[in-house]
This record gives sequence, structure tokens and C-alpha cells, in this order.
Amino acid sequence: MTDTFTPRALLVTGGAGFIGSNFIHSFMAGNPGCRVVNLDVLTYAGNLKNLAGVEKDPSYRFVRGDICDASLVASILAEENIDAVVHFAAESHVDRSITGPEIFVRTNVLGTQVLLEESRKHRDARGGEPFRYLQVSTDEVYGSLGPTGFFTEETPLAANSPYSASKAGGDLLVRAYHETYGFPALTTRCSNNYGPFHFPEKLIPLMIHNILARRPLPVYGDGLNVRDWLHVQDHARAVETVLKKGKPGEVYNIGGHNEWKNIDIVNLVCDLLDQRLGRGAGESRSLITFVKDRPGHDRRYAIDAGKIKRELGWEPAYTFEQGIAETIDWYLANQEWVAEVTSGAYRDYYDRQYGERGEA
Ligand code: NAD
Ligand code: DAU
Repeated sequence: MTDTFTPRALLVTGGAGFIGSNFIHSFMAGNPGCRVVNLDVLTYAGNLKNLAGVEKDPSYRFVRGDICDASLVASILAEENIDAVVHFAAESHVDRSITGPEIFVRTNVLGTQVLLEESRKHRDARGGEPFRYLQVSTDEVYGSLGPTGFFTEETPLAANSPYSASKAGGDLLVRAYHETYGFPALTTRCSNNYGPFHFPEKLIPLMIHNILARRPLPVYGDGLNVRDWLHVQDHARAVETVLKKGKPGEVYNIGGHNEWKNIDIVNLVCDLLDQRLGRGAGESRSLITFVKDRPGHDRRYAIDAGKIKRELGWEPAYTFEQGIAETIDWYLANQEWVAEVTSGAYRDYYDRQYGERGEA
């Protein structure tokens, strides 16, 4: 473990999204006095309501802007005297990357390169002052596992979707900036997150949303694909740990040792909601509809998170039982948030997707 790095002025990109907003909440609670600048262009996935409670804090600033805008990034880095960057901003949904890959390459590859380049120049201008850059990446860059085994940090990159390929492209640029320029960059690769503020295009919040509305629950293929679920607050804590204690140039896998087949997750969410809504046993399960598989659908993800535990002392705090129950209760208590984010642009997308499949 290297000496602990204490950021004084942090640039967070994509802080109005699911994980970025959860990170800002927990980071600001634990690091009072650290300046936090949130750069987010507010795509369909970005929502400033996720940040209610922090926006009036004098150490917080929101800038609406694009990570591909080099002069904007440069001016924020200089005027705020930024000493750390945590890069969440991305196009994050695999299904969208299949129907429209271009924006994924622009944001996830070009955007990362712009951020790296401006950060590198800014760090050089600061002389020997401490500086760190953290790339928030995904286990999807490793491709797909068979029935056994785990992704380690040494697993070769083998991305299978335009989303994961664009994330792998960003990761390789991060590696190149470290190797070529000695730029102090760290990379985290996390498994599937769940928790509050998760946009209802992703499996768990989509199922909650559709169960409440008694709409079909689309399960891709045979429903036996496996994901390794981690509570978003555990991920946020892991990112903070790597930022402060990780070794520049290193990659750290983050995961929950919590593998679930998709159909089992959907059944569980159905049953937990039936209990809460006073519906009969099995009522929501009857909404499950097996649909055409996602093209290139990775069969199984499972993370070996031994390195981050051994070297930095991080491990998940949430049990899945607690986390999923709290998440469902959060969605029930925040239906206004759900209604807002599922209107407008997202609604069009949603109707187009499911209209095409004839299920809406
Ligand atoms: P999200 O889609 O909920 O949020 C992405 C945010 O980035 C949004 O607020 C959006 O407005 C912003 N953004 C998009 N393009 C931008 C641009 N050009 N300039 C500035 N802001 C822009 O995503 P998420 O699920 O919170 O994921 C955050 C990061 O974590 C991503 O890099 C993703 O690859 C990674 N990740 C996600 C998961 C997961 O399970 N969701 C797991 C591992 C890693
Ligand atoms: O593993 C980390 C990744 O997890 C992140 O990098 C991505 O940003 C994040 O979106 C997530 O990707 P997935 O593709 O695994 O998540 P998603 O919620 O889209 O799907 C989870 C599983 O559920 C996957 O096997 C596909 C399946 N699925 C998904 C949806 C939306 C369904 O069966 N039906 C659905 O309607």
C-alpha cells in the first residue's frame, strides 16, 4: 500500500448519474472541506435530483458540460486547482450500445482521452504537486466466463459489446498514459451495481418499475446468464479507497462475491414486491416474459476481488439480503423520481424498444 493520498479539490465526471451521485454523497459526507466539482453534460441518464442535499454545500460545484470539450475541462482543472479526477462519465447501457454504438465511442473513448490529456497537461503545470486520476471501469472489459472461474486483474481484455469495447478502449488509453507519460492513473473494474438512483433501463430497477405497473418483465434468452451484484455504496467506498490508497498504474477489481442467475434475481424481486404490495404469492412472477436474447450476451461475470481486499483492506459491507430489501423500499418511497426519469427521452426509447418487440 502506498502512503495515503488526501485530495483537496476533486473533479468528478458523470456525478449526476447512478454511481457518480452515490459516490458524491458518500465522499462529501466523509471528506468535509474537500472541494468537489461535478462535470456532467446531463444526458438522459443524468439527473440533478440525485444530488439533492449536497448542492447547497459551499464546497460543491456543478458544471454542466461535456468531457469531450477540452477547453472546458482545462479551465475547470486550472481554476479549481484540481488535484484528483474520478472519471465516471460514460454511456453505460449495453442495449443502447447495440442499437447506437457511435456515442459510446465518442464519450467512452474520446471523452476519456480528452480528460487524460487535459489532466496530464494540468498535472505537469502543477510541478511536483501530488495528483491522481481514477478511471472507473467495468468487469465487462474481460468478456464472458464459463460456469467456473473468476476475472482477475490479469484476465486478458475480451470485450464483446460496443459498450464494453468502448470501456476497454478507455482503459487502454489510461494504461498508455501511465506507461508513456508516467501519468498517475489508477483503474477500477467493478461488477454490476444496484441501489438507489439506478436508472430503470437496467435489470433490477426495470423489473421493479414494471412489476409496479403490472407490465411484462422481459427476461433475455433463457434467463440463466449470471451477474455478480454489489451495492452501489460499497462500490463508492471502494473507489474512494483506491483513490486514496491505491498504487498508480495498477488495476483493482471490485465485486461482491454475489453471483445470481438473472431469472433468480427477477423471481426474488417479484416475491419481495408481492409481500410489500399485499399481492398474492406468484402474482408478479406471472408477468415474466422470456424474450429474444441480447446479441453477444455475456454468459457469466464473477469477480475475484482478492487484490483490493489484501492490498487496500476493502470488502463489501452490505449483505445482498439487506441491500436488495433497502433498494426495493427506496424505489417504493421514490416513485416521483422514477416517474420523472421515465418520462421524455427515456420514455421514447423505452416505447421504441418494447414496441418493436411487440410487448408493450
Ligand atoms: P449512468 O449512465 O447512470 O451515468 C452516466 C453519467 O455520465 C450521467 O450522469 C451522464 O449525464 C454523464 N455523461 C454521459 N456522457 C457525458 C459527457 N460526454 N460528458 C459529461 N457527462 C456525461 O452510469 P453509471 O451506471 O452511474 O456508471 C458510471 C460509471 O461506472 C461508468 O463509467 C460505467 O461504465 C461504470 N460502471 C458501471 C457499473 C454499473 O453496474 N452501473 C458497473 C461497473 C462500472
Ligand atoms: O458488469 C458491470 C456492468 O453492469 C456495467 O459496466 C454496465 O454499465 C451496467 O449496465 C451493467 O451491465 P449489464 O448488461 O450486466 O446490466 P443490465 O442491467 O443491462 O443487465 C443485467 C442482466 O440482465 C444481463 O444479463 C441482461 C439481463 N437483462 C437486462 C435487461 C435490461 C434482462 O434479462 N432483461 C432486461 O430487460
